[in-house]
Amino acid sequence: MFFERPDSGEIAVLVHIDFHDQSESYGPEEFVELAISAGADPVAVVSGTRQRPDARYFIGTGKLAEIKDIVDREEAQVVLFDHALSPSQERNLESVLQCRVLDRTGLILDIFAQRARTHEGKLQVELAQLQHMSTRLIRGWTHLERQKGGIGMRGPGETQLETDRRLLRERIKAIQKRLAKVGSQRDQNRRSRDRSSVPTVSLVGYTNAGKSTLFNRATGADVYAADQLFATLDPTLRRLDIEQIGSIVLADTVGFIRQLPHRLIKAFQATLKESSEADLLLHVVDAADISRDENMKHVDSVLEEIGANEVPTLTIFNKIDALPTAEPRIDRDANGNPFRVWLSARDGQGIDLLKQAIAELLAEDVFSETLYLSSKYGRLRAMLFEHGAVKSERFDEAGRFVLEVKLPKKDYLQILARTGMSEDQIEAV
Ligand code: GTP
Repeated sequence: MFFERPDSGEIAVLVHIDFHDQSESYGPEEFVELAISAGADPVAVVSGTRQRPDARYFIGTGKLAEIKDIVDREEAQVVLFDHALSPSQERNLESVLQCRVLDRTGLILDIFAQRARTHEGKLQVELAQLQHMSTRLIRGWTHLERQKGGIGMRGPGETQLETDRRLLRERIKAIQKRLAKVGSQRDQNRRSRDRSSVPTVSLVGYTNAGKSTLFNRATGADVYAADQLFATLDPTLRRLDIEQIGSIVLADTVGFIRQLPHRLIKAFQATLKESSEADLLLHVVDAADISRDENMKHVDSVLEEIGANEVPTLTIFNKIDALPTAEPRIDRDANGNPFRVWLSARDGQGIDLLKQAIAELLAEDVFSETLYLSSKYGRLRAMLFEHGAVKSERFDEAGRFVLEVKLPKKDYLQILARTGMSEDQIEAV
């Protein structure tokens, strides 16, 4: 497969091999997408089939010669393998091909490096990059001219990628320490959010589904979540006001990629963990993507892996503007509860339906009533005020306080318990 010669980006040759014993075989299309999103310009995809990887070069010598020809002819700067290569295979390939060779893990790390938004995310990428590199720095890269920048070489880690392993070890240790600190900060932030019972809604989905676009579109008019309840300076958390519910936190997360190497899932677990603790997940799907169903399955399996499969989930079919016939709408299950919303994050149609569906799904957790309290309920009244739960207050002719309250159900029950009352003692409408 050959492509038009592009005018910019790093010229890349892609290699995708099918192995006979592979349980699921998949084409190179996704890998081409990944390479492009890393900023490469793929000029050719070399495919082939093999019984098993070659220990020295991963591929056979015939295939290697074929790739070498293309590299020379196209003046390729990098060869990307859609597979995990051992450090020595990578080195051997680089010696023969005389250009940089990057495996799937390296490529994905590069994409993450470009997209990491939070301080913690950047540290995690740097750590994973360094760990990935450290196994590859044993003998240095003397066979290649060392270059800065380019795919797999940039991101937070690029400044310290010396061959000096001692420096590398120190750097890894320092990052681990910083990560631990950021992690405990995040836990604290989460705990204070928990205490205040602000519901958290997390966006998850396959890479390129449109999560960030939706995040920006939905929260556009709202301020950054920069008060102490939220993780300050974390651009992936924002407050969203939902009419019937009040404030919620909307969290953006890193996109999932098929065949994410296991080690990487571990590296990003802290970030992914946020999703498993959300009150509601919005699974954003590119409804116009031909791989829509496989991508959804993949996201579901990652959610299971991080223990988030129990969290209530609303599916968002995004990009309906790119479908021939699709109107914004809410699909409901047999009980009338929303399970899917069709919308376009880009042009904004259906965003109101999304807010409505979130409100309905979270409403069960909200106590929103009019309470009639005689003067002996002074303590309860004071605590509701303290909690900021009172929307309005008046007296009725019987001399009772009539309070419009709205607060999370579990907070209401807690307040009742603290005042020593049960629900049926309170007259509510
Ligand atoms: P990752 O950061 O890789 O996880 O991606 P993401 O899910 O955050 O996707 P992002 O919001 O960056 O959008 C990916 C691409 O899809 C961008 O080019 C968007 O402009 C495009 N996009 C997002 N929403 C829509 C939509 O509703 N319609 C169309 N046609 N394109 C959209």
